[in-house]
Amino acid sequence: MKKITIKKILSKKNKTPIVCLTAYSAITAKIVDKYCDIILVGDSLGMVLYGMKTTRKIKIETMIPHAKTVKDFARKSLVVFDMPYKTYTNKFIAYKNAKKVMKLTKCDAIKLEGGKEMVNTIKYLTKKGIPVIGHVGLLPQTSSNFKVKGKNFIEEKKIFEDALAISNSGVFAIILECVVENLAKRITKNVAIPTIGIGASKYCDGQILVTEDILGLSGFHPKFVKQYANLSKLAEKSIKNYAKDVKKRRFPFSENVYK
Ligand code: KIV
Repeated sequence: MKKITIKKILSKKNKTPIVCLTAYSAITAKIVDKYCDIILVGDSLGMVLYGMKTTRKIKIETMIPHAKTVKDFARKSLVVFDMPYKTYTNKFIAYKNAKKVMKLTKCDAIKLEGGKEMVNTIKYLTKKGIPVIGHVGLLPQTSSNFKVKGKNFIEEKKIFEDALAISNSGVFAIILECVVENLAKRITKNVAIPTIGIGASKYCDGQILVTEDILGLSGFHPKFVKQYANLSKLAEKSIKNYAKDVKKRRFPFSENVYK
């Protein structure tokens, strides 16, 4: 199986949509890897796997073993480590943490949130050989609200300038989160690198969603998520039936018994 490279991701701009999803475990990584170009070990892991209220609580030490597992089981996709909150407060801290992540997980790149204020950090990391994906629009680590971004002129101008600034500083792709369609279209047209949308319209060069959201496992279904299954319901039904069988001494069935 041919490994997807950053060069390959760049070559997809204006040609083939880039398919991205999150994974935090071996089971998910194995399935997602078959169909995706990029797998993100997102900081959403804190909310999805650990039940945290925001992404701000997850620690880099908690994410590293998950990322290592995903990387071990992803045979072809590019695996990206999402730097958690406060792990890249300046370029030196960012480098120290990113270097550790790359060494311990063998991930292919890191992702960090922010616009113009991240330019120096991005330049420093890429100069040191660490590939970076940027992230603008709604920034879950720092945004004061979770509303769609770019609806008014000031916000639109800021996000556009942020996207341009980071695209010129060395990132190889930009996540656009929850921005209005026209802004996503304008950014995508004006940057040379691929844009990956999450709630940012079909005009982006690729799309990303949280896997547990599309499978109906997380209980999170905002407008921008298409839920392809309701695995939560299926899991509950299966567990309820198992419990019933055990209580009624119906399980183990004859085929589950060693003679
Ligand atoms: O942590 C995450 O899951 C993300 C999204 C962009 C998918 O950052």
